[in-house]
Amino acid sequence: MCGIVGYIGEEQAAPFLLSGLEKLEYRGYDSAGLCLNDGGTLVVKKSKGKLTELKTLTHNGSSLHGTVGIGHTRWATHGEPSDVNAHPHLSESGRFAVVHNGIIENYLPLKEKLMDKGITFRSNTDTEVIAQLIEYYYQGDLMDTIIKVLSRLDGSYALGVLSKDNPDEIIAVRKESPLIIGLGEHENFIASDIPAILSKTRKIYRLENDEIAVIKRDGVSVFNTDKEPVQKEYETIEWDIHAAEKGGYEHFMFKEIMEQPKAIHDTISPRIKDGRVVLNEISLTAEQIRSFRKINILACGSAYHVGVVAKYIFEKILRIPTEADLASEFRYRDPIVDDKTLTVVISQSGETADTKEAMKEAKRRGSHVISIVNVLGSAIAKESDDVIYTLAGPEIAVATTKAYSTQLAVIYLMAIYFGDLLGKITDTEYQNYLSELLMIPDKIQQILDNSENVQYLASQLFHADDVFFIGRNIDYALSLEGSLKLKEISYIHSEAYAAGELKHGTISLIEKGTLVIALATHEELIGKIVSNMKEVQARGAYVLCLATERHQELKDVAQNTIFIPPTCDMMLPSLAVIPLQLFAYYVASQKGCDIDKPRNLAKSVTVE
Ligand code: F6R
Repeated sequence: MCGIVGYIGEEQAAPFLLSGLEKLEYRGYDSAGLCLNDGGTLVVKKSKGKLTELKTLTHNGSSLHGTVGIGHTRWATHGEPSDVNAHPHLSESGRFAVVHNGIIENYLPLKEKLMDKGITFRSNTDTEVIAQLIEYYYQGDLMDTIIKVLSRLDGSYALGVLSKDNPDEIIAVRKESPLIIGLGEHENFIASDIPAILSKTRKIYRLENDEIAVIKRDGVSVFNTDKEPVQKEYETIEWDIHAAEKGGYEHFMFKEIMEQPKAIHDTISPRIKDGRVVLNEISLTAEQIRSFRKINILACGSAYHVGVVAKYIFEKILRIPTEADLASEFRYRDPIVDDKTLTVVISQSGETADTKEAMKEAKRRGSHVISIVNVLGSAIAKESDDVIYTLAGPEIAVATTKAYSTQLAVIYLMAIYFGDLLGKITDTEYQNYLSELLMIPDKIQQILDNSENVQYLASQLFHADDVFFIGRNIDYALSLEGSLKLKEISYIHSEAYAAGELKHGTISLIEKGTLVIALATHEELIGKIVSNMKEVQARGAYVLCLATERHQELKDVAQNTIFIPPTCDMMLPSLAVIPLQLFAYYVASQKGCDIDKPRNLAKSVTVE
């Protein structure tokens, strides 16, 4: 997630902008930049890498003059991390400068239109389109121009805009991406988040969707897109800086759990156009896709668990044999892979050593590789044939949540896209899948808004020493993730088991009071999992069952139940994983564990 800071006042702006950007480092970034209005000229300095690079370049800001400026830390979504792609972006003549957090979904047609008019672009970003559009439409009134530009943009944005002609103001706008305005004495601020300005003020306005703020030294005016003034109430921030970084939550993991509706929305919406899934990232022709005899999924940890879900989905919908392979095993077992095998590599970081090496092995054997990656320009993204980016934003907590969820969303998009190309799904099925997919973010929000039950259950069950997660079919795939989430952050021993496999050994571990979490969302096999619940209850287990609201009767079977809204079978893991993440979180919190940095674990595993 990008970070924005802006300053207008009586002091030199650049040193403050740098310190504000430092406070936003937790959001993750790959490059940074500043733009100052220096006596009527917009001066930009930017650099790839850490903020220290930008500090060196600007002598800690001292070599950049001016008391009005904007700064930005960029988390790449369009165009690789580089000096050129870093923000701020200038319009062609250098008259306007823009910093942006969010995604402009229709930037390509806009860019093509402007290029047809002879406008030259410098970067590969979606953001530059905004700067160029402002200059293109500008006829002397900046507010009118910005309103016009906003009406052309689809997507999400928080923007800070500087204009050479209006040297004593910053314009700020937001839609779906956060932006606050800090209120000082003869100085005012904008920022993506509160920590950036806490050293200067605790009085803020929160900008709402489609509000436009004109920020001057001695005042801030806010308007709607009809240019009517909006009366804002200011808020006084009581949080300390550490709480503020986490948006008021105690842990990044919780913040990231809460961000999932948006992360999924951001990942799917640019890829659904006029009721069709558009995966321009995939370079394969329909004929090539038809020629695949097998799909091989390579990944580690939670990303591998997404692969196991994908196996059930791809085999059911595409009728292509699919293997989910642990990357660390695949590398060393002389796998049967050739040009008739499609390889799908899944990795949040795009840098996991085992996954990267397994991918290279698959390529060496002639396989076409599609990767699903969160970090733009990462090694796996660069080396795969095609890359579909999840747009989850940076994930800080070691235990993945929103990356897992967005990876699943990409799997659904692929299943629908390939299913259609291969003629395996009817038009009605296609439309049903799409409408279910579009409803997933709201349904997750509903689960998040009603999670007290999960918190209560965690407070009752956190003493467990051993936990078994059981499920069948896609619920088994999900049980792998539920179990990993719980054990990695709470240090409670837990196992995921295919429910039908229990009686072949593991059931001997069930004794009085053992906690068994039974996943019973998969409609076709409810009867079977009910038998497994009874089987373990007969041996003394305490069963917590997770099911869809359609199956209220399961209340009479399990000691406790958690319900989720229904959706189509293939997308159930997206809803069912939420209570499992929350359960793991609340249990770990009850136990006082170091939730964001569990012992012995690293976020990016770049060694074998
Ligand atoms: C678990 C978790 C890990 C990662 C695994 C792969 O919560 O986060 O299991 O899923 O280390 O990492 P990436 O996706 O970066 O390749």
